[in-house]
Amino acid sequence: MKKIINVSMMLIFSGIFFISCNNMAKNKETVKKEDHGVYNGKEVYLFTLTNKEGNVLKLTSFGARITWIEVPDRTGTRDNITFGFDAFDGMINGDRYFGAVVGRYANRIAKGKFTLDSIEYNLPINNFPNSLHGGPEGWHSVVWDSEILDKSEYPAVKFTYRSPDMEAGYPGNMVVEATYTWTDKNEIIIDYKCSTDKKTVFNITNHAYFNLHGAGNGDILDHQLVIKASSFIPVDTFLIPTGELRPVAGTPFDFSSTHTIGERITQDYDQLIFGKGYDHTFVLDNLEEVDITVYEPVSGRLMEVISDEPGVQFYCGNFLNGTLIGHGGKPYNYRSGLCLETGHYPDSPNHPEFPTTILNPGETFKSRTIYRFSVK
Ligand code: GAL
Repeated sequence: MKKIINVSMMLIFSGIFFISCNNMAKNKETVKKEDHGVYNGKEVYLFTLTNKEGNVLKLTSFGARITWIEVPDRTGTRDNITFGFDAFDGMINGDRYFGAVVGRYANRIAKGKFTLDSIEYNLPINNFPNSLHGGPEGWHSVVWDSEILDKSEYPAVKFTYRSPDMEAGYPGNMVVEATYTWTDKNEIIIDYKCSTDKKTVFNITNHAYFNLHGAGNGDILDHQLVIKASSFIPVDTFLIPTGELRPVAGTPFDFSSTHTIGERITQDYDQLIFGKGYDHTFVLDNLEEVDITVYEPVSGRLMEVISDEPGVQFYCGNFLNGTLIGHGGKPYNYRSGLCLETGHYPDSPNHPEFPTTILNPGETFKSRTIYRFSVK
């Protein structure tokens, strides 16, 4: 009898201990900094940000990138929903855009040329015949300085990069900051701040891939998408804007109400053929708080995107082919991830009719994009 009482007391105490440990884990927000590797002689750090809910965001100073977003499904089971690699070498040798901050010019510049104050600038052609995402050694491919923001209300890390004059062919010494905050509402808030000492052009974005089933778990064709955009930017066969802003109404690009990504993707429509699927900038209406929602009905995961940028490049992984092996040894197959890259329009320096991407000395560019996760 005594033994039974002792055993049940032990069980009660260990239960209380377990519950209080669990609560502690739930209530403690942390940022952990670890060595991640070395690139070009510079230390790279990995940051693990845990919010009050116990959900985890991982960032690395190589490319100021997101490598892991661990959020629950509707049963409370957590999974990572973004692309990345378990080993540092995977990140260096694999697709360098996964989760990265992209600059100096996110997206394409036609034939790698633009003119500013009568001077022609020539950029590396890394996506024939165009320059893509700031060239092969753009901001996604450099080691950023990093700082944990101890005084922030939520776990936060600020990355800073000093981009020298004429880096990748662009004028001006630029100072770029990308600050990530991981709130208790499971929001990744990205704040960008940029300045230059010479007139220049630039366009900044984050290139995270998402799959709300969990990264590496099937394709994204069943994800239900809403984009608050009345028009999109048609492109030529090299994905360069024609200059037209085409109304989405009556086209497979109308996501003003809910459609799955796969529903119309194989339609015989010129832009779907040129893009090999969706790989286009949508002109955001910027009228409502939430610009984009993505819902995946099996897990119940919902992602909302909020941005003050004029556009978003919706790319649905048409170039993925399963050769890249990511977290947990899972291949990233054709259309197994989608990107919602907020920013300015492609090739704006050669399209004066588009919102300007010129930055002058003395000006500070500031912009915010939020990726918010919940379940429905
Ligand atoms: C996207 C772009 C795609 C492709 C991808 C990188 O931003 O829209 O065309 O280049 O990056 O694989």
